[in-house]
Amino acid sequence: MTTCSAPGKVYLFGEHAVVYGEPAVPCAIERRARVTAEKRSDAGLRVNATDLSLDGFTVEYGDGDGPPNVDAPRSLVEDGMSYVEEAVTQARDAAGDPEAGFEVTIESDIPLGAGLGSSAAVTTALIDAATRELGTPLAPREIADRAFRAEYEVQDGQASRADTFCSAMGGAVRVEGDDCRTVDAAELPFVIGFDGGAGDTGQLVAGVRRLREEYGFAATTVESIGALVRSGERALADRDLSELGRLMDVNHGLLSALGVSSRTLDDMVWAAREGGALGAKLTGAGGGGCIVALDEGDGARTALSYAPACQEAFRAELATEGVRVEDP
Ligand code: MEV
Repeated sequence: MTTCSAPGKVYLFGEHAVVYGEPAVPCAIERRARVTAEKRSDAGLRVNATDLSLDGFTVEYGDGDGPPNVDAPRSLVEDGMSYVEEAVTQARDAAGDPEAGFEVTIESDIPLGAGLGSSAAVTTALIDAATRELGTPLAPREIADRAFRAEYEVQDGQASRADTFCSAMGGAVRVEGDDCRTVDAAELPFVIGFDGGAGDTGQLVAGVRRLREEYGFAATTVESIGALVRSGERALADRDLSELGRLMDVNHGLLSALGVSSRTLDDMVWAAREGGALGAKLTGAGGGGCIVALDEGDGARTALSYAPACQEAFRAELATEGVRVEDP
């Protein structure tokens, strides 16, 4: 039995545009998914997920093709299970053991589909745990690459390397196409607001793709996000928090122009700003879920905790460690 964990993340800058080769800077945060993999004597796959911000569910896959035995809403389970299945496929492939079966247990304090990288964290931690269980441990960069391939399959080729690389490596990272690097970033005063909801990453990414194909201004907006990220990198290197906040505000505006914000995300962004944040933006695919703000004091968190749109407000520390082995 092997247990590994991997962190979630927030996007300081660049989500969506990163899908089209522009740079992005996600930062890992200390909210983790823990995944235990135990090799079975047959080729079956059984998954227990007890704490994914939805009712606990158990899914049993036999080694045949029969439908899974499920005790939770099917669409939610199917979304989550696609990542699990692709991660197991990658682990089997890496270990050269296509018939390997597993008991998988997932515990996560990263809400599903809320922009904090829950699927990347589960995929990354599962690939690490399952390959170790098969006696073929992988280096974090290889895990990142395998996790990206799993996400790419699930999201029909509409995925960047940003979420999975960040989750595998930890800290702040910079991703531009296939060029993935860690960035030397000091601790940033992140505050997160969560509306209790979720967005559908596949649909949101497809919406931006359609808009970009239809209108030149949308393609220009995507390029503008890339230019903004380059300015943001300079501010990050100088640890110029007020410039970072200002650029986060602009990034939120550009994401809204691409149609991926929502009423509750906008309300939380404004609550954080009015509470004194240096800047605030949605994080991840959007549509609902989380915003990230920069605030050294307690004003933004307090304002968010009173905002009707916000279900939970918390401070998030940078997770300096990426995927790692845990005591079972
Ligand atoms: C989702 O967390 C981030 C997106 O940029 C999609 C991706 O990078 O794969 C919207």
